[in-house]
Amino acid sequence: MAANIFFVGLMGAGKTTIGRIIAKHLNKAFYDSDHEIERRTGVSIPVIFELEKEDGFRKREAAVIEELSHMQDIVLATGGGAVLLPENRKHLMENGTVIYLRANVNELWHRTRNDKHRPLLQNDNPRQRLEHLFAQRDPLYREVASIIVDTGGQPVNAIVHQIEQKL
Ligand code: S3P
Repeated sequence: MAANIFFVGLMGAGKTTIGRIIAKHLNKAFYDSDHEIERRTGVSIPVIFELEKEDGFRKREAAVIEELSHMQDIVLATGGGAVLLPENRKHLMENGTVIYLRANVNELWHRTRNDKHRPLLQNDNPRQRLEHLFAQRDPLYREVASIIVDTGGQPVNAIVHQIEQKL
């Protein structure tokens, strides 16, 4: 067993914050697929979306997920759309324990409403977009995850505790 832990869930669910803490507690290396893409390309996610559109970004994301999911003993926070491609879902399911951090749309909206770093929410009706993404992706997150944690407005330490009980 590769002993990897992969976090999935929508933007604003807390994958990076929670993942980083869990990695520290379990003494595993922490990765974030968006940060890894930014590190490799030297530009930000919004710039990649602008230059290469969502398709170009998804190709970079798939390459990073394939590579990182085959590492050993890591915690990985994936981007919210990582579950869209079947090959990503396969890599995640086959190479680690997948945790779905599930937050409701109100909570996600509250956390992302002033964020300019998320290109998918830069449109006339970002809240409606978030609702649409939730409806589209919730079944995919459920498909890949063996652990589902409802964040339910709880503080970070309570969510971390809940995850550690389930691992
Ligand atoms: C995306 C989520 C973002 C980032 C990109 C696309 C998505 O990651 O990968 O903006 O499709 O939901 P976070 O979930 O870390 O915000």
